[in-house]
Amino acid sequence: MKLREIKPGIYCVGAIDWDRRLFDSLIPLPDGTSYNSYLIRGSEKTALIDTVDPTMEQVLIDNLNGLGVKNIDYVIANHAEQDHSGSIPRVLEKYPKAKVVCTPRCKGMLIDMLLIPEDRFITVEDKETISLGDRTLEFIHAPWVHWPETMLTYLREDKVLFPCDFFGSHLATTDMYVTDEGQVYEAAKWYYAEIMMPFRTTIQKNLEKVKGYEIDIIAPSHGPMHDKPKFIVKAYHSWVFDGPKNIVVLPYISMHGSTRKIVAYFVEALAQRGVTVKQFDLTVTDIGKLAMALVDAATVVLGTPTVLAVPHPNVVYAAFLANALRPNLKFASIIGSYGWGGKTVEQLTALLPNLKVELLEPVLIKGYPREADFKALDSLAEAIVQKHKEHGFDE
Ligand code: FEO
Repeated sequence: MKLREIKPGIYCVGAIDWDRRLFDSLIPLPDGTSYNSYLIRGSEKTALIDTVDPTMEQVLIDNLNGLGVKNIDYVIANHAEQDHSGSIPRVLEKYPKAKVVCTPRCKGMLIDMLLIPEDRFITVEDKETISLGDRTLEFIHAPWVHWPETMLTYLREDKVLFPCDFFGSHLATTDMYVTDEGQVYEAAKWYYAEIMMPFRTTIQKNLEKVKGYEIDIIAPSHGPMHDKPKFIVKAYHSWVFDGPKNIVVLPYISMHGSTRKIVAYFVEALAQRGVTVKQFDLTVTDIGKLAMALVDAATVVLGTPTVLAVPHPNVVYAAFLANALRPNLKFASIIGSYGWGGKTVEQLTALLPNLKVELLEPVLIKGYPREADFKALDSLAEAIVQKHKEHGFDE
């Protein structure tokens, strides 16, 4: 691939991973991803910002060779996760004078995970700078985007922010910059939901911190760069600061059709009352899509049959995931069916301790739903409408 220059002396040297379909053996990547790495040449020193996933290490090395890079002084490790740090050992081997620059916490993690010798590190405090001669790198500690050790790097003279995962998106594209804002908004929100959402309140602080910097370009380590940074900063702002909306997310499973009928009736009951419902059949849904739906929702309703006296395992998985992602939900409930008994409600609610939600009266139905059951579903729909109104989520 032709090397891409952002500004004179600043290059994209990372790799596009068109075919990757799963990240962390968990997160679906329908549109692939990229591991962006950036080379900055100053009048005296050269820095490499983040590396690439070890599976694409050779692409990075070829790009550095293609640019004729004979020496690297600093390898900036904004984040210790291996999709950005995994090729550091190879870079250090190729450039024996290079030092890894990172936060003190990141140093410990890189030693643990990549066995990098301690003498190869320089640690930096918040707001500390390193001079490349005519260019200055400033390091901004930004914990929990999305690990505790993370920092952002700001190239002062060129007003470029390198935030690693923050403001990024899993999107394989040859475009250097965002060309389709709708597509990138979706991919970035998806990414935010999957890894950043649990740290929403810390991200609020990091966004406030970034506000103080004049930024022309945001160059994340996944997806295209932002040459109109306001777009992505505004999007993040809404995801972390805005309250929930008049939305119910309804992940469900049906085994023999009873729960499907219950869900269909209930979704219609909510829709008729003006509530937006996002329904997910857990046998086929992409969990990233489900995570994204949870960003703005006020209420989650889990739909499940009872199998072997417990909730369906796929619904247990969805509940576990929602609990880990800590969306800004305010209410939860459970609907579904059972044949002869079980502890579905108790077991599902026990899986949601992180969600500070009010549990609305569940509707568990024996067998296929009948008239009285539909009335109970109407009552639950009405209760949700009232709760959303009381909290102003319907505005
Ligand atoms: Fe892209 Fe958290 O690594």
